[in-house]
Amino acid sequence: MAKTATITYGDKKIELPVIEGTEAEIAIDISSLRAQTGLITLDPAFGNTGSCKSAITYIDGEKGILRYRGIPIEELAKNTRFTEVAWLLIFGRLPKQDELDRFSRQLTMNASLNEAFKHHFEGFPVDAPPMAMLSAMINTLACFHPQFNKIEDEETFEEVSARLISKVRTIAAFIYRRSMGLPYIYPDPKRRYVNNFLHMMFSMPYDEYQCDPDVEAALNLILLLHADHEQNCSTSTVRMVGSSRANLFTSCAAGVCALWGPLHGGANVAVLEMLEEIHKGGLTPQHCLELAKNKESGFKLMGFGHRVYKSFDPRAKILKKAADTVLDKLGVNDPLLDIARRLEELALKDPYFIERKLYPNVDFYSGIIMKAMGIPVNMFTVMFAIGRLPGWIAHWKEQHDDNTSRIARPRQVYIGPTTHDYVPMNKR
Ligand code: SDX
Repeated sequence: MAKTATITYGDKKIELPVIEGTEAEIAIDISSLRAQTGLITLDPAFGNTGSCKSAITYIDGEKGILRYRGIPIEELAKNTRFTEVAWLLIFGRLPKQDELDRFSRQLTMNASLNEAFKHHFEGFPVDAPPMAMLSAMINTLACFHPQFNKIEDEETFEEVSARLISKVRTIAAFIYRRSMGLPYIYPDPKRRYVNNFLHMMFSMPYDEYQCDPDVEAALNLILLLHADHEQNCSTSTVRMVGSSRANLFTSCAAGVCALWGPLHGGANVAVLEMLEEIHKGGLTPQHCLELAKNKESGFKLMGFGHRVYKSFDPRAKILKKAADTVLDKLGVNDPLLDIARRLEELALKDPYFIERKLYPNVDFYSGIIMKAMGIPVNMFTVMFAIGRLPGWIAHWKEQHDDNTSRIARPRQVYIGPTTHDYVPMNKR
């Protein structure tokens, strides 16, 4: 592999260093480009630009490969639970039993919210968008835990990670309970992470939710499949905000805002709305494809396509299989699953989708499974955020621990008006 790349521009010719990642990804290091040539690069949406070096997650979009800290997602999906994956992502290796037990204890001990949070929940309209509330409440954690505005050591980092991962679950459940006009159900220290979440969502006073092990396993799977995905929009947002040395809570709150977008985490809601539209007869699967192919329509086949995956999204493959098992075990016969399968079948045979390498992504099947568990559609992206939180924390930590990292501040190519004088009002 050549060690440098040559850039020739006018009478200037410079050599820029080339770096190679552990999976043979090659990058031209342009950090000295402007100093040497006065030139900058332009790459809207950063499709060709690496923002950092990272050791957390590896994706091969052509081969449909996804690995967390080198471990294939298929192996993690089969052998682990969400909380173990969270520790793996944040601390870089699989935890030993005593480390996992300690982390679980911290998750259990930190599930409750300060009672003052209730005033914040009560202050929102009943139909407030859950993602708006989630972002606000995660930011509010910084007010109640100022001691974490500066994190100096691994032990403290494990504690703040556990607090955030644990409390986000309680916040999400309370958001749901508030929207339904139901009493808040407090966390039960005897229950494990996912079981406790479902308890806080669906128990009633004097009528405790009995968590079906298959539902618990399916939600563990959904959360761990969402746990990280390298430099996606919301994770890049967390890194951007964290690069100013803003605290972990506020950086993750910013990640929630980016995830909300329908092109990103909001797609799982949009997929269900699209499938329900078809089910109601408003649209046919074929009509969906026609709309998706017609640029003027502004319609996208939600849950399809990906910036990186130009073959199948391995998470979608796993979720497609899980959808069958979970709905079957729960005895749920959801026509939306058949519609989704029909849509996938038609799209994968359609030249427009084949030429553009558009395949189902993580959002295409996740909603059908969550719906079968009784999780309402407007909470789907909140579930994505609960799953993605360990990834955000891991990336924030990786950047925070890198003493060469600097505040992120991209340049631009200015295309506005050239200089001209101020015109007084009476002359305009
Ligand atoms: C997530 O980055 C991540 O890792 C994200 C994520 C994660 O885990 O963090 O994986 C989670 O966000 C998954 C994506 C969820 N979003 C959707 O399902 C929304 C529908 N998908 C599209 O909006 C789109 O595919 C994106 C947003 C996912 C990707 O956007 P890109 O990279 O800008 O799309 P592209 O440049 O690859 O598109 C190439 C072509 C274009 O057409 P042409 O200009 O070449 O004619 O494909 C078309 C696009 O218009 N296209 C679609 C399409 N997706 C791409 N056409 C119809 N329907 C679609 N879904």
